[in-house]
Amino acid sequence: MGLITLNRPKAMNALNDDLSQEVIGVLKAFDGDASIGAIVLTGSEKAFAAGADIREMHEKSFVDMFNENYFSAWDVISTIRKPIIAAVNGFALGGGCELAMLCDFIIAGSNAKFGQPEIKLGILPGIGGSQRLTRLVGRSLAMDLILTGRLIDAQEAKACGLVARVVPPEELLSVALDAADKIASYSYPAVLLAKEAVNRAEEVSLSEGVRHERRLFQAAFATSGQKEGMAAFLEKREAVFSGR
Ligand code: HXC
Repeated sequence: MGLITLNRPKAMNALNDDLSQEVIGVLKAFDGDASIGAIVLTGSEKAFAAGADIREMHEKSFVDMFNENYFSAWDVISTIRKPIIAAVNGFALGGGCELAMLCDFIIAGSNAKFGQPEIKLGILPGIGGSQRLTRLVGRSLAMDLILTGRLIDAQEAKACGLVARVVPPEELLSVALDAADKIASYSYPAVLLAKEAVNRAEEVSLSEGVRHERRLFQAAFATSGQKEGMAAFLEKREAVFSGR
């Protein structure tokens, strides 16, 4: 299990270029490390991340943004094959909320606040927020949050499907690490296949998605994990998965 903690306390973990490159580099390294089965991405108790760094962005022109393809580097997260859990305490705003949504699921501390307040800065979400938030919570609430810039608390985020679980802030990291440990204890190929199947739901029609799932399900029968998992159930013992 791999843990990444965003740590720019003086700027509420605002995402600047250096931090972005560092986090992306570690995520790629974790993805290629056979000893890691799942990843947790977290921030501090005050802030997961308060967005892209406004100080870094404020003087940039369209051509600067276009030529740099600003923040497109985060797109690589959707190519990471291992599950990534976002453990969010405090503010997850703008790019911070988008980063949490790029992860596979979000566990929130009850003090968490989510929002896409870019409209207040004269801009709009730029790391997929308008697309992922809409898919996660529906058009009406996405429009509300993106057009008014209002923040929602952890309970509302749970009620609308943005986050999977809400826990006391002081328990957040241990709950997220336990979830990652549990995932990492399962058959590695089964975990990758399951993540791929769920992600497909956002890209294709229902019948194509079900067809794809069926093939992945059948492929699981080529793994030692399926043999071990089913044998262990029948023998009334804990399964021990080898990662093959
Ligand atoms: C740069 C930031 C920052 C940010 C906070 N800080 N957010 N610096 N970029 N996104 C800095 C503040 O300037 C301040 O620095 C310090 O962190 C503490 O913040 P305060 O505002 O004093 O704290 P507080 O009053 O508790 O308010 C917390 C907050 C507020 C509600 C999170 O800071 C806030 O609204 N931040 C901006 C949120 C936002 O608009 N995010 C969207 C950014 S645009 P000093 O030096 O004064 O102590 C975006 C686009 C993504 O994310 C797409 C890109 C492609």
